[in-house]
Amino acid sequence: MNRFILIAALALASFAAQASSGGETLEPANTNIRSKASLINGAKYFMAYCAGCHSLQYQRYNRMAKDLGLTEDELKKYLIFTGAKPTDTIQTAMTPEQGEKFFGKAPPDLTVIAKARGVDWLYSYLLGFYADPERPIGWNNQVFPNASMPHVLWRLEGIKVAEFETHTDDHGIETRTLAHFKKVREGVMDEEEYRRTVRDIVNFLDYTGEPAQLIRMRLAPWVLLFLVVFTFLAYLLKREYFKDVH
Ligand code: HEC
Repeated sequence: MNRFILIAALALASFAAQASSGGETLEPANTNIRSKASLINGAKYFMAYCAGCHSLQYQRYNRMAKDLGLTEDELKKYLIFTGAKPTDTIQTAMTPEQGEKFFGKAPPDLTVIAKARGVDWLYSYLLGFYADPERPIGWNNQVFPNASMPHVLWRLEGIKVAEFETHTDDHGIETRTLAHFKKVREGVMDEEEYRRTVRDIVNFLDYTGEPAQLIRMRLAPWVLLFLVVFTFLAYLLKREYFKDVH
């Protein structure tokens, strides 16, 4: 039940976040929640690169394994890097105090982040990191300016820096906007591969935000079929009942 209360609260927060996000254009994530391969890959990357700082405290390992079609052995082998039991929820080893000490801000729980921010925002956020020597952690982010999260996927993506443009309006007021990125170091993945990986991570977070989506997708055709058949039967009944009414 907790997850639903959280979703409601986050929907409000998301509205506020979007209102204050400065209207930057987001890239469409084009995730596909029905792709098990994408969800499994996303889960693997999440556990390897994100779970050190972020928990998914409303998601249980074994529920995830079941939904993703993994056996308990596969779950233990590929997705549990801590001493956690399959029946545990996904916790992080980092305490909020440590988070605040290291980053100035505790990394938030991400179970329902896809509901709060939307998949396009998450996708753009993970593509939006650039090196910025003016920031204490050395990184900045295009869609979340001055975020205190480092670019944890830089080895995969490589390092890019931002080049800015200055515009002067009619009143002589100067604004500086990010014009484009310049790659200064290659990563182990090319751009397409990196985007695919990020899309899978976002897809996985979309799943944790509402695991029931998978069930809904499976049931939907049957519900529609039932409605069609029922409408037809109701029509036949109506004809039968009204046969003698003139
Ligand atoms: C080294 C610790 C660390 C790791 C690893 C890490 N993050 Fe973060 N993350 C943070 C911190 C700190 C923040 C808070 C940023 C802020 O609010 O300024 C954050 C914020 C976020 C947010 C924004 C939440 C919001 O406020 O809406 C998202 C989304 C996110 N992280 C996703 C990820 C994903 C996905 C990964 C794995 C690819 C990841 N993080 C790995 C530290 C980390």
